[in-house]
Amino acid sequence: MAQEQHSSRAILMITIVIAIILIVVIWPLSMLGKGGAKPGSADDADARIQPVAKVELAKAVAAKPDGKPRDGATVYNSVCMACHASGAAGAPKTGDKAAWAPRIATGIPALIKSATNGKNAMPAKGGAADLSDGEIKAAVEYIVGQAK
Ligand code: HEC
Repeated sequence: MAQEQHSSRAILMITIVIAIILIVVIWPLSMLGKGGAKPGSADDADARIQPVAKVELAKAVAAKPDGKPRDGATVYNSVCMACHASGAAGAPKTGDKAAWAPRIATGIPALIKSATNGKNAMPAKGGAADLSDGEIKAAVEYIVGQAK
């Protein structure tokens, strides 16, 4: 009996503590959204969490089963090699200096743009829509590195 009273008092205490936390922490937070706090502070909060939200988004796009973005060689071997190793569909062959020189002369950013958006027979991102911008850039740098 004494034991039972003891534990029901503990439950009461926990309930009170939770209620206090709710009032002290959650209530002012909910007021923020309603403009109860000084003007602009909610916007400030948005601005402050935005970089984090963006990073999280970028991570989600680049996330692979192991959670890491693939490096240039890996992307090349799994996507780009299909055309660029053999020169299929008129693709400049990897390592063919003469074929790559005039393209490299247009600048890496232009090549990244072509690989991202597609060019003639090359589909956007080499057909692998899940590649992140970073992975495309790494793959282009890898291909260019092979032709130098
Ligand atoms: C379906 C075949 C195919 C795949 C897959 C492919 N490419 Fe291409 N790629 C081409 C063809 C064809 C061209 C030549 C386009 C042209 O200039 O007409 C080309 C050209 C390029 C160029 C030169 C663009 C320019 O502006 O001159 C780059 C850089 C390139 N590919 C990178 C990549 C990368 C990186 C990948 C992998 C993510 C990839 N390609 C996958 C077919 C492919």
